[in-house]
Amino acid sequence: MPKEKKSLFVCKNCGFSSVKWLGRCPECDSWDSLVERHSQSRKKRQDHPVNQHVYNLDDLETRTEQTRFQTGIGEFDRVLGGGIVPGSLVLLGGEPGIGKSTLLLQVLSKLSNRGLTVLYTSGEESPEQIKIRASRLGIEGKILLACMSELEAVLQTVADKQPDILAVDSIHTLYSQDVNSLPGSLGQVKAASSSLMGLAKGFKIPIFIVGHVTKEGAIAGPKALEHLVDTVLYFEGDRTQAFRILRTVKNRFGPTHEIGIFEMKDSGLEEVASPSNLFLEHRNNSVAGSTIFPCIEGTRPLLVEIQALVNQSYLALPRRTTAGFDSNRLALLTAVVEKHLDISLFDKDIFVNVAGGLKISEPAADLPLLCAILSSFYDRPVDHSTVIFGEVGLTGEIRPVSHSDLRINEAKRLGIKKCIMPAYAKDKQLPQDMTVAQINHITQLPDLLFD
Ligand SMILES: Nc1ncnc2c1ncn2[C@@H]1O[C@H](COP(=O)(O)OP(=O)(O)O)[C@@H](O)[C@H]1O
Ligand SMILES: [Mg+2]
Repeated sequence: MPKEKKSLFVCKNCGFSSVKWLGRCPECDSWDSLVERHSQSRKKRQDHPVNQHVYNLDDLETRTEQTRFQTGIGEFDRVLGGGIVPGSLVLLGGEPGIGKSTLLLQVLSKLSNRGLTVLYTSGEESPEQIKIRASRLGIEGKILLACMSELEAVLQTVADKQPDILAVDSIHTLYSQDVNSLPGSLGQVKAASSSLMGLAKGFKIPIFIVGHVTKEGAIAGPKALEHLVDTVLYFEGDRTQAFRILRTVKNRFGPTHEIGIFEMKDSGLEEVASPSNLFLEHRNNSVAGSTIFPCIEGTRPLLVEIQALVNQSYLALPRRTTAGFDSNRLALLTAVVEKHLDISLFDKDIFVNVAGGLKISEPAADLPLLCAILSSFYDRPVDHSTVIFGEVGLTGEIRPVSHSDLRINEAKRLGIKKCIMPAYAKDKQLPQDMTVAQINHITQLPDLLFD
């Protein structure tokens, strides 16, 4: 008797499968997206190496830093936690045109110059287009190039060419015959990522995949890819500005929230040696509503300018607009100021901006923002050689934050003379050659800021 064909209903959008048809996909909530598939019609999956060996943890060699590949691009090595780890799958995300393909070509070129075999597969551009970019960037070295969008073809090419490093540009153009949905859909992207993960671990080669950011700001839909890969790097920054920030969102082999700063030039992405200078470069010293905040990004201190504009509002609901800062945090700080400093902001529009396009999520930014608001409100500038940091609580108290020493040292390095910060633990040594004001409540601020 012939074997009965089994039916499976698969969502075209997200790859969810069910044994019965459903009008609405419970996974991605899209309507009428389930289509019938017969399990016998499925092609056999192409085998990629599977490691079934069981190890004894004690017998394994410790992975030392020497086993990482150094690219020679310091900012890139930094975000990876000190270089590329063999067998890792790294997702490079960002908006179109931000410089993902440029960075990958530059990295591959550096590695090929060190004698490694590098393979770049692109489903987005033709070999000629890639050659034009490579010529513009002055790329040298032997880069193997394959323009293909079928997953099986990529796997086969890797098996044939045995590269030391693979870059796939982009994961959204990869298409597997085994998955019954369109390229770029969640099902395809997930299938391609897990195949590439198998490939990376099987062949012990690092693989970079480029991922586009959807309109909602997530990589390939609702964070679907992030847990599938080892490392997630995300390109931030305004495309209209020259500098780009590469941020580690997740890293199994190094610290997260690390950032690398690059400047986009005709000749490609260039490392920025002293980023604090970059963020403070265009600062106007004598304007009210601006303070300097020594923030910590990953393990690195950075001086950034926080700006606030407090204006009379003519709207029933005054505006609270933020760029680079959490708007809920702004609402909280506004309430704290009104309650404890006895000034009314209910009829004021408040605009907040972190100069240079950096996004700040540290609570230590509370105090510098609050000072910028006060400065704009009273229309009196804060001394331009002052750094401010500290967390503000609901009762107006100022709480200590981590890495005070790192912040102060970076400020000193850039010639800053004054610091307003939370009260230190008593046994801690205060920094020399700097005036340090330690405060524990925001009521101390007005006298201190505008003397
Ligand atoms: N002479 C140039 N020609 C084209 N692009 C340039 C040139 N100089 C700088 N660029 C930058 O290169 C960017 C394209 O980078 P690309 O790596 O293709 O981005 P992605 O792969 O992230 O879409 C452009 O947005 C532009 O900022
Ligand atoms: Mg590209």
